[in-house]
Amino acid sequence: MTSPHGLSAVAPPVDRSGTNFSPERQTTGSTTGSADRLTTGPTAADRIGSSVIRDLLALTERPGVISLAGGLPDLDLLDPERIRAAADHAASLSGAHGPVALQYGPTAGLATLREAVGERLGVDADEVVITTGSQQGLDLLARAVIAPGDEVALQEPAYLGAVQAFRAAGATVVGLPGDDRGLDVDALNALIAAGNAPRVVYVVADHHNPTGAVMSPGRRARLRELADANGILVIEDAAYRDLRWGPPTRPLFAPRSPVVHVGSASKVLAPGLRVGWMTGPTDVIDAVLRLKQAADLHTPTWNQLMVAHMLDDGHQPRHLERIRTAYRSRAVALADELTTRLGDAVEVTAPDGGMFLWMTTRDGTDTDDLLDRAIEVGVAFVPGSAFRTRPPGSDTEADNTTARLAFASRPEEQLRAAARRLAEVWRP
Ligand SMILES: Cc1ncc(COP(=O)(O)O)c(C=O)c1O
Repeated sequence: MTSPHGLSAVAPPVDRSGTNFSPERQTTGSTTGSADRLTTGPTAADRIGSSVIRDLLALTERPGVISLAGGLPDLDLLDPERIRAAADHAASLSGAHGPVALQYGPTAGLATLREAVGERLGVDADEVVITTGSQQGLDLLARAVIAPGDEVALQEPAYLGAVQAFRAAGATVVGLPGDDRGLDVDALNALIAAGNAPRVVYVVADHHNPTGAVMSPGRRARLRELADANGILVIEDAAYRDLRWGPPTRPLFAPRSPVVHVGSASKVLAPGLRVGWMTGPTDVIDAVLRLKQAADLHTPTWNQLMVAHMLDDGHQPRHLERIRTAYRSRAVALADELTTRLGDAVEVTAPDGGMFLWMTTRDGTDTDDLLDRAIEVGVAFVPGSAFRTRPPGSDTEADNTTARLAFASRPEEQLRAAARRLAEVWRP
């Protein structure tokens, strides 16, 4: 059974053992028992566990729950007329082989979309690959550049979708510390100095998932230097980059640098279209293209045509302004209600973009326990422990004092109500 979001609708019970929310939970999602397994393993699927967050999202589907768990954009802010116009445009195009939207297309993506993306990134269209969501970009990249046993360093806590892609490719994931200025580049330097230079560094430099941090200009420059000097490939995941209401930043990516830029239409248009893109060093892009051919031939033509149309229809700047303004007031409302209700017991970030507040409890309240009680009163969030990459038993600083609260898809009154409910069940 699947939910409207395509998530498993079999909601696991809230389990105080932590099993449902523990990153170490390893299942293949198969319904066959171990005795009659059809895969002989170890396969790529065996290298990754089930997604803790997917399990959690299933829970939040319960009626009446105000979910601050999933990072869903608010699609009510997207003009329906505009979507219709983009779909009509896609349907109306006719080529040498019939309706373009319904025909096979090039593996690298449609020229119109590659041009629109290339223009935004300051590269030629032929340096851009269109992917089926940026998640596919991460998966293809992982398989293109990682050999089993290679190390991938990233900021801990981390976006688990990326961790899963790297692990499936056989990478050893190394979690590095970070703070409100992003990945701690000195920690990366120490790793390199100890003779353990990773093959890849993965960064979400703008509005990090889950912490919301923006990497400082100094750290960006240092990361580029370290990558250059040590033959490290940097993957810049820019999924949230355009959701900014704070000061502008410079991307890590620059032409002819060892940086791959991965972008997405999901957060700025609609995730259901499954359109993402990447650009980077030619050999990496070539390898990605070979793998994409094997993976899905190309990203759905209809969806690419719709996105190309919407990036160019003249409404995108206004739409971005609209979602930034709405998300900003939502972030402020949620932070304000939490601090009004909980005072010094809680610390929340003041994000200048993205979709997430990062909350730290200051009075010993355990966020795994809090989630159990929160679900009972109709609120869901993702506890910080879910974003940990370290294997079981090795986590010296168990993270049970943090949580990610997604504010983007809920109106302010609901966010304030969620904060009030959390305060009711808050227990140090
Ligand atoms: C940091 C980050 N990167 C990539 C993705 C994947 O997004 P999509 O495949 O929809 O482009 C997500 C989704 O939430 C994300 O948070």
